[in-house]
Amino acid sequence: MNNILDALEWRYAVKKFDDKASLTEQQILEVKKVFNLSASSYGLQPYKMIVVQNPELKEKLVPASFGQQQISQSAAILVFAVRTDFDMDYIDQFFEDMSTKRQIPLENLEGYKNFMKGSFANKSENEISSWAKNQVYLTMGHMLVSLAALQIDACPIEGLDPQAYDKILDLDAKQLKTIVAMPIGVRSPDDASATALKVRKDLSDIIIDL
Ligand SMILES: Cc1cc2nc3c(=O)[nH]c(=O)nc-3n(C[C@H](O)[C@H](O)[C@H](O)COP(=O)(O)O)c2cc1C
Repeated sequence: MNNILDALEWRYAVKKFDDKASLTEQQILEVKKVFNLSASSYGLQPYKMIVVQNPELKEKLVPASFGQQQISQSAAILVFAVRTDFDMDYIDQFFEDMSTKRQIPLENLEGYKNFMKGSFANKSENEISSWAKNQVYLTMGHMLVSLAALQIDACPIEGLDPQAYDKILDLDAKQLKTIVAMPIGVRSPDDASATALKVRKDLSDIIIDL
């Protein structure tokens, strides 16, 4: 693959995975690292990704995904969830991490920390949860492009019942809430969607050059 444009032409939302094909441990590790390298607002990463490879759990997630079969046929299902434990202590912890990792005394970060805390103190609970949800969607876009570059097939899935996912994966106890999912693996050779031409607007309809 020559460049990112080739990778983006290669990728598509897979409707049928090869259920005999698996991903290597190395590939799964790369997927996890790619997720962790996503940009996020302030770098706060108010989310987690659950990597479901357990066959029984995958099967249970099919009815919770309106019967979409690509869920069970995939090699793994990535579930993107927002953290429900995001609060001022979380921000304090973030700055402690920054201080350690960048070797900057905590007191030098005090001004920035107070600014950040102030910006969240002014937000309602709903605003914070919609902010966190936006961050999750950003990671999904980041994953779609990155996985294409790694030649790992994927299908973004918004068609799911988040509460059912939370229950099956016991996410309440982990202080998480499901937002979206993404089965990943290897496309089936007979997935008709693989050869369907992309439906996209003309550049002149979607880009404004000024
Ligand atoms: C946020 C989001 C949610 C989606 N949810 C589903 C889904 O539940 N099931 C599905 O088969 N495809 C889903 N898709 C895939 C889109 O239908 C697909 O990306 C779009 O038709 C463009 O086709 P392409 O990705 O194959 O180029 C979703 C895509 C996005 C970005």
